[in-house]
Amino acid sequence: MAAANLTLDSDCIVARDQQYVVRNYGRYPLVVSRAQGVYLHCPEGGRYLDFISGIGVMALGHSHPRIVAAIEDQLGTLTHCSNLYYHPLQGAVAEQLAALSGLQRTFFCNSGAEAVEAALKIAKGYGRARNEAKHEIVALHDSFGGRTLGAISVTGQAKYSDPFAPLIPGVRFVAPNDLEALKSAVNENTAGILFEPILGEGGIVEITAEFAATARELATANDALLVCDEVQCGMGRTGKPFAFQHWGDGFLPDVMTLAKPLAAGLPIGATVCSEAAAAVLAPGMHGSTFGGGGLACRAALEFLQMLPELLPHVQEIGAYFRARLQELVVRYDFVSGVRGKGLMLGLELTIPGGDFVPEAQRKGLLMNCTAGNILRFLPPFVIEREHVDEAIGILDDTLREGTVEDDQ
Ligand SMILES: Cc1ncc(COP(=O)(O)O)c(C=O)c1O
Repeated sequence: MAAANLTLDSDCIVARDQQYVVRNYGRYPLVVSRAQGVYLHCPEGGRYLDFISGIGVMALGHSHPRIVAAIEDQLGTLTHCSNLYYHPLQGAVAEQLAALSGLQRTFFCNSGAEAVEAALKIAKGYGRARNEAKHEIVALHDSFGGRTLGAISVTGQAKYSDPFAPLIPGVRFVAPNDLEALKSAVNENTAGILFEPILGEGGIVEITAEFAATARELATANDALLVCDEVQCGMGRTGKPFAFQHWGDGFLPDVMTLAKPLAAGLPIGATVCSEAAAAVLAPGMHGSTFGGGGLACRAALEFLQMLPELLPHVQEIGAYFRARLQELVVRYDFVSGVRGKGLMLGLELTIPGGDFVPEAQRKGLLMNCTAGNILRFLPPFVIEREHVDEAIGILDDTLREGTVEDDQ
């Protein structure tokens, strides 16, 4: 068999992909052959400012020298030995997550959906240990928990779940921040209440402190687990290690899911739990061949060591980016607001936003559109003001041209 040709031009790469890869993604017309810092490059030499960072994964930018060095070193030391044995890195990452979050134990897996699956099993196992009827999960409309069957069962967007029904029974959905709906959905049969502190795919929707506090009270009163899905908003993205920490020192979920940036680009997922929640999983009840492998954990450890010094920068540059986005709200009557925290920001439009994405891409800026009308930005934590200014310049041009076309 001939060796695979990896140096094709963009058209050939797209053609081969379309012939052989399952067509489950609606990709943008861009081939990425190389990435460095906050820029992606295509085979023909074009350069793109990456303000979506692999959907929130590449928090340190691309090819960060400390991550590259750590991975290279670890590759030559220990890549994988399975969970049949101990290795030094898994406990070390779990120890750091415990110190940052106040939750004691971590289960490691390889993606956000798997982290949500583990959280669901923990909640359902917690409920079932109390009584058989206690299996219900309360989740939010417009939420996103991933693509596995359990995760789509708690994803409040019919387009992801309807084609695969019937799903896990006993899931009740309430609207984000609807206190009355939450109160009527939770009862003694609730095993878990699960929500993203900031809904990402749902359009950068912030959960209020009041809703979170009510969910915490209801979970405690009904002996259910409170699960915060921090796959997208966690790990420093909002300027604090975890988004739930914006609700004050007293707030603590029982379970938290993490993934995306935790291993700075390598696949990882983590379900971080209180002692009581973790106690649900006895040996053999859950697991993952790859979960918590040496390579991903080494990258995660390096990322966690860098995180504290990055947080003030995320806050500062996030405030600057927000202020510059706000200028667009003033400039264009179809731009109605800025949403989100830190470097998880959305520009809210009163018109559909999807067409602005390829247009901005043609001009050299990568972002995406969620919920139909929210331009979403998840840039790397290491962006500087000059990158924000470049992004705003491109965005301004893109929105201005969009307005001109609309007027014609
Ligand atoms: C909040 C949230 N939970 C879970 C997931 C699923 O993560 P993954 O795609 O790594 O399975 C995502 C992915 O975007 C997410 O945003």
